[in-house]
Amino acid sequence: MSKLWGGRFTKPTNKLVEEYTSSIGFDQKLALQDIQGSLAHVQMLGKCDIITQEEVEEIQGGLKAVEKKIQAGDVDYSIADEDIHMNIEKMLIDEIGPVGGKLHTGRSRNDQVATDMHLYLREKTHVLMELVEAVQKALVHQAESHVETILPGYTHLQRAQPVSFGHHLLAYFWMFERDKERLQDSLKRINWSPLGAAALAGTPYPIDRQMTADALGFDKPYPNSLDAVSDRDFILEFLSISSIMITHISRLSEELILWSSQEFDFIELDDEFCTGSSIMPQKKNPDVPELLRGKTGRIYGNLMGLLTLLKGLPLAYNKDMQEDKEGMFDTVDTLEGALSLLAPMLGSMDVKADHMKQAVKEDYSNATDIADYLAVKGLPFRQAHEIIGKIVLYAIDQNKYLLDLKMDEYKQFSELFEEDIYDKLAPEQVVAARVSEGATGFQQVYNQIDLAKEHLS
Ligand code: ARG
Repeated sequence: MSKLWGGRFTKPTNKLVEEYTSSIGFDQKLALQDIQGSLAHVQMLGKCDIITQEEVEEIQGGLKAVEKKIQAGDVDYSIADEDIHMNIEKMLIDEIGPVGGKLHTGRSRNDQVATDMHLYLREKTHVLMELVEAVQKALVHQAESHVETILPGYTHLQRAQPVSFGHHLLAYFWMFERDKERLQDSLKRINWSPLGAAALAGTPYPIDRQMTADALGFDKPYPNSLDAVSDRDFILEFLSISSIMITHISRLSEELILWSSQEFDFIELDDEFCTGSSIMPQKKNPDVPELLRGKTGRIYGNLMGLLTLLKGLPLAYNKDMQEDKEGMFDTVDTLEGALSLLAPMLGSMDVKADHMKQAVKEDYSNATDIADYLAVKGLPFRQAHEIIGKIVLYAIDQNKYLLDLKMDEYKQFSELFEEDIYDKLAPEQVVAARVSEGATGFQQVYNQIDLAKEHLS
């Protein structure tokens, strides 16, 4: 079978080489973007009088026919044609004859593949932003029902101070908000057009790069042809943003897993999102959040892979760069899957507010508030801290919680204690007292929900 670049060769390509160097097995995902780029290119070739209007129409008709076949799944891609670009060009020529060969005037696969990936990633960035937003909506929805649900807040995974469960969920809302912002911001850089940079140096044809950029909805052409075909930092940026996002997903998943354990017993994930054990009949395993946590490995790996691939590559195109695609596709697919599951799983989880409340009652997480109580009465906070430390030690020794101690027991530690201490120590009061901006106090959390909603489209 003859190659599109066969003229210079006297021998056919070794079969193993053909297999080893082809990318059609994975870059066929770019088929529709490739045709979109070609349609814009051929239109421009006509407008710039590089080919005739008749030829433009023939090629456009041919490309649309090929597109139909691809959409219908009615194509046999061939390894001999190496990649999606040459497969489509071959199909075009089969469809309309030698005039199809004029499509590749004034361009190269190097600017073509870069253009395809910009188009692909732009589409996927929009899809992912919507999916992130669905997760945010699920978080806000749960948060709204649980502003006044109190659970222990932790530092060092030790009970620290009680917080509103709504507040805890909203912490993730803001992480995802920044992820969404990062995706939005990256569009500025995805939206440069490599098309017309040709192989590396530009082309002698009087092409109009702004015209193809406009037709493809890009903001502007890359100002430097070498950069245009060598740049993969728009993919690196995407993989970095994705790595940060999966970190957030993984942390949230870890908490869902912990909270589902019998040790915590704060939530129950819906049956729909759990699986059983083939041997232990009692098991209900949080497989989905475990897998979400586990997917972090491949997303970080894809980032590391591309960073390593690009490090030390001289300008301009090198075949190494063909390896840029699978990690990008994998990251897109992995995130699409993760976000699509996360939203309904969060929406359907059962929150065991009474268990959370019970946990708060059985801890010493109101200790800071007693220190604050004495500090408000004029004792320096350091001294108050020391005294309360001793009270906690005493209470643990007596097998009591701080609310169980009698007034005379408090008085042994400081004469400043009065009856109102018991109100101050009630969990609701401890949470409600935190009124600083962004705090867990109920009113602050209601305000935060309003703010969060403003950020949703
Ligand atoms: N399949 C190739 C890739 O993805 C397209 C560009 C090939 N260019 C070349 N000069 N061999 O990288």
